[in-house]
Amino acid sequence: MDRRDFLRSTLAAGTAGLAASAVTASAASTQVAPSDRLRLGFLGTGARAHQLIDACRALPGLEIVSLCDAYTGRAERAKARSGGTAAIRPDYRAVLDDRGVDAVFIVTPDHWHRTMALAALDAGKDVYLEKPMTYAIAEGREIIAAVDRSSRVLQVGSQGPSSALERAAREIVKSGRLGQITLVRAAFNRNTAGGAWLYPIPPDASETTVNWAQFLGSAPPRPFSLERFFRWRCYWDYSGGLATDLFVHLATTIHHVLDVQGPSHVMAAGSTHRWTATHEVPDTIDALLTYPEGFTVTLGCTLNSTGGEEGVHIHGTKGTLHLLGDRLRLTTEQPGDDNRWVVRSWPESLERAYYADPKVQAIETAGSQRQQTSPSGEEWVVRGESEDVAHVRSFVEAVRSRTQPVEDARFGHRAAAVAHLVNQSIREGKRLTFDV
Ligand SMILES: NC(=O)c1ccc[n+]([C@@H]2O[C@H](COP(=O)([O-])OP(=O)(O)OC[C@H]3O[C@@H](n4cnc5c(N)ncnc54)[C@H](O)[C@@H]3O)[C@@H](O)[C@H]2O)c1
Repeated sequence: MDRRDFLRSTLAAGTAGLAASAVTASAASTQVAPSDRLRLGFLGTGARAHQLIDACRALPGLEIVSLCDAYTGRAERAKARSGGTAAIRPDYRAVLDDRGVDAVFIVTPDHWHRTMALAALDAGKDVYLEKPMTYAIAEGREIIAAVDRSSRVLQVGSQGPSSALERAAREIVKSGRLGQITLVRAAFNRNTAGGAWLYPIPPDASETTVNWAQFLGSAPPRPFSLERFFRWRCYWDYSGGLATDLFVHLATTIHHVLDVQGPSHVMAAGSTHRWTATHEVPDTIDALLTYPEGFTVTLGCTLNSTGGEEGVHIHGTKGTLHLLGDRLRLTTEQPGDDNRWVVRSWPESLERAYYADPKVQAIETAGSQRQQTSPSGEEWVVRGESEDVAHVRSFVEAVRSRTQPVEDARFGHRAAAVAHLVNQSIREGKRLTFDV
């Protein structure tokens, strides 16, 4: 219990069950026999891979034995960070050829995900594939078919579904406490150069330390560019920008918490308002998604202001659930109405008769019911194990039990498809139909 600290918790069955299951999971994973050690390879060891290396090091029974990267500085740092014994291989194929590797983490730019995932499955490795699962929609079906053909486990790396917060949110939605859910509003905003992916470039990066051809792969040929290499999210050749970087996380959370597969229709508008000198991709997008289950989703991201409300907000007729990073807040709607401003225009005798009716009195408590929504609510703060550690743990459990995890290839394909359709809708100026 020391790993999870639920503050101000008034939630009954939902989070109580959650805390218990978290404890069970921790206890189980400490009992890994040496022969059950999982030997891992990393394809790409950039910024995200270093977070995942930390997550792997926080769990028992995992050993990073092989890795590669297109920039030598990162491969060497990853070797040092992962315990100092991993072999640095010249390319991803050499990691996949290593028979001592059981599973691989694919943590390269998006245009490499499909090729590396298919090759890894073909080489008999289990796969942790970073989000977005795909660079283009059609790749999703290919990866799903390859997983189905293989006996391998594939988990996509948007970590939300493994978090205690999302599991609690899912239970609240399932319990019906929100009433009829008609709307989800979700947003993710930033306002710094780093937030807009204009990351600092390491001073030793050059044509000697960076393997440009390896980075490009099947992307269109271009002259050597450190900006493209280190800030690849700004360019269509390697990324879908805001939609694939941030909307994918929002779509993953919404699909998981509401237990739905994907929208039937997608429309979006987006522009590059501010970062015009550096970004091909938009810095501002708003999207509207229609779900066949009967609710609307709005997704909004800007790289130009943090003034708006962030998080995922699930609106039901009886309450609204707010997912706010490490906080979960439930506000409930109060039944009650106030039609005085309308009824006072009626003939006086009818107004008096209306308010003499006990049924009206029960609903319209004249004078006191100025507000229809209770400002009070329930709030929980989740502390302890990070989402990254929890998500790597989910992967390891799936590998050990030989079962596909929650965030499998089908799930990852649908979340990424939302992002690709958002970009397509912006480009074509059209409302698109989503056909999984
Ligand atoms: N789940 C999350 O919260 C999260 C967070 C950040 C990034 N990501 C995802 O992780 C992936 C990597 O993002 P990042 O921020 O680490 O980018 P990054 O640029 O920091 O790292 C990518 C690395 O891949 C290497 N690389 C490129 N082509 C290669 C190749 N052919 N062989 C070997 N290495 C190659 C590059 O040298 C670089 O070091 C992306 O798909 C991104 O969407 C996920």
